[in-house]
Amino acid sequence: MFSKVYSAVIHGIDGLIVSVEADVSDGLPLFDMVGLLNSEVKEARERVRIALKNSGYMLPAKRITVNLSPADIRKEGTAFDLPVAIAILAAFGHILEENLEGTLIIGELSLNGKINKVNGVLPLVYAAKKQGFLRCVVPKDNAEEGAVVNGIEIYSVSTITEAVNLLSDFTIHKPNTIDVDRLFENPVSNEDVDFSEVAGQAAVKRAIEIAVSGMHNILMIGPPGSGKTMLAKRIPTIMPELTFEESMEISKIYSIAGLLDNRALITRRPFRSPHHSITTTALVGGGTIPKPGEISLAHLGVLFLDELPEFNKNTIEVLRQPLEEKAITISRLNATFRYPAGFMMVASMNPCSCGYYPDRNKCSCSLPMVKRYLGKISKPLLDRFDICIEAMQIDYKELQNKKDEENSSDIRKRIYKARQIQLKRYENQGIWFNSQLTPKNIRKYCKLEAKEQSLLEQAFRKMNLTARAYHRILKVARTIADLDLSERISTKHISEAICYRSIDGKYWGEM
Ligand SMILES: Nc1ncnc2c1ncn2[C@@H]1O[C@H](COP(=O)(O)OP(=O)(O)O)[C@@H](O)[C@H]1O
Ligand SMILES: [Mg+2]
Ligand SMILES: [Zn+2]
Repeated sequence: MFSKVYSAVIHGIDGLIVSVEADVSDGLPLFDMVGLLNSEVKEARERVRIALKNSGYMLPAKRITVNLSPADIRKEGTAFDLPVAIAILAAFGHILEENLEGTLIIGELSLNGKINKVNGVLPLVYAAKKQGFLRCVVPKDNAEEGAVVNGIEIYSVSTITEAVNLLSDFTIHKPNTIDVDRLFENPVSNEDVDFSEVAGQAAVKRAIEIAVSGMHNILMIGPPGSGKTMLAKRIPTIMPELTFEESMEISKIYSIAGLLDNRALITRRPFRSPHHSITTTALVGGGTIPKPGEISLAHLGVLFLDELPEFNKNTIEVLRQPLEEKAITISRLNATFRYPAGFMMVASMNPCSCGYYPDRNKCSCSLPMVKRYLGKISKPLLDRFDICIEAMQIDYKELQNKKDEENSSDIRKRIYKARQIQLKRYENQGIWFNSQLTPKNIRKYCKLEAKEQSLLEQAFRKMNLTARAYHRILKVARTIADLDLSERISTKHISEAICYRSIDGKYWGEM
C-alpha cells in the first residue's frame, strides 16, 4: 500500500513543492521517515503517531516508511505533520486517493490531533498556485492568509478528523474567501502624530518629503533636541500606500517570519526602528533556522537607525551590500538564498559626543575627538546616503511661533502625485521608485540637457564624487523634478540634489 501527498517548504521567501510518500508493508512494526530531515521533522514522527492515535486511528502493526522528496533540500519547520499523517492514512485506505491529486496540504499537529497554524503559508500557497495545484488544505488560523492568493481554492481545517472528512468529499465544504479590497481600506498610519507638531526645520521637512517620494536614503545630522527623532517618527504619516503587488511581496516576508499577527496581508508600508543594541543577525537575517532580519522586514518601507554611531560599527557596515543589491544573500551549509531588502534607510546622528560640533561656543570636544566620533560612520556607508541634511538647533522664538505648520496630509498629497508619476513611468518594469533605478535605467529616465550636464560635471570634479554618488544625485534630481511635476530635470532640480550631497563635506570633508 502506497500513497503520495503534496506539501511545500520555504526556501528563502519562496515555496518549493515537496512530495510526501508513505509505504506500508508487512514486516517488523516500524515507523521510519527518510529524506534529509532535521531534528524537527524527526520529532514530527512522534507527534504524528500520537496525534493519529488520539484522533482514533490505531495504526496496524506494519512497517511504515515515509519519504520526503526531493532529498537535496532541507525540510525545516513543522508544516509536514499534517501531510505525513494524511499520507499514512491514505496508505491504509482511509482517504480517497484521487482527492490527493492537485491538493497541497500543510499544517502542524498537536498531540491531541488539533491542527496548529504555521509560518509561511502565503508563499507556500502562492507556490502551489504557480505549480498548477487546484486547492490547498491549511490550518484554520492560516485561512485568511491563504485566501489572499487568487486562482486556488483554500480549505481550512482544525483537526485531523476534519481533514479526513474534507478529503473524502470537497463538495460538502466551502473554500475560504477574503475581501482583499477591505484590507486596504486604511492604508495610512493612524498613529496620532503629525508633521504639524514639529516647529520650523523647514529644510529637513523638505528633504524628508523628497526622500519619501523616491525612497531615497537620508541622514539627519544635528545637535540633541533639534527634533531628529521627532521628525523620523512622523514619516509613517506621509508614506505612500502600497500597491497589491508590493503588499504581497512584504506579506510573504512577514508570513515566513511569523509576524503577520492575524493579519491576512501587510497593507501598510513598514517602518522598523531597531534599537542600537541589535545584533548583526537580527539586523540582516540568518541564524540556524534562517529568518528574515530587520532589513527585510523593512522591505519597501523604512529602516530607521536612530543615533547611528551608537550601533556596533561592524553591524552597520554589513548594511553596505544589501543597500546596493536591495537584497541579502544568506549562505548556509547546504543552501544559499536571498531575502529581499529594498528598504529606505533613515538615520539620525549627533555630530560629536557632546552633540554641538561645529558650534565652537558650545562644543567641548577636541578635534581628534570629533574626528573619532564622525569616523564611526565609514566613507562607503556615508556614500550610500542620497540625502544628508542638517537639523539646526531650534531657538525659543521658533518654538513659541504659533504659525500654522503644514500637516502630514498636505505633505502626503504632494508625495502621492510624485508617486503616481513614478508608477506610471515604470509601469510593468518591477520598479516602483526612483531609488530603484539601475545605471541603465538612469541613462534612459534621468537625461540631462547641456546646461544641467555641465553643472553636474563641475560638482563631480569639485566634490571629488564617486560614481555611486553621481548616480544617486541623478536619482534624487529625478524625484525633485517629479515633485515639481516636471518631466524635464532642470538646473534647480540638479542643484538641490547636489546640495544634499555637499552637507556631509562640512563634517567629513577634511577627514
Ligand atoms: N522642531 C521642534 N518642534 C517642536 N518640538 C521639538 C522640536 N525639536 C525638538 N522638540 C521637542 O524636543 C524633544 C526632543 O526632540 P528629539 O526629536 O528627541 O531631538 P533629537 O532626536 O534631535 O535629539 C521632542 O520630543 C520635542 O518635544
Ligand atoms: Mg534623537
Ligand atoms: Zn562636541
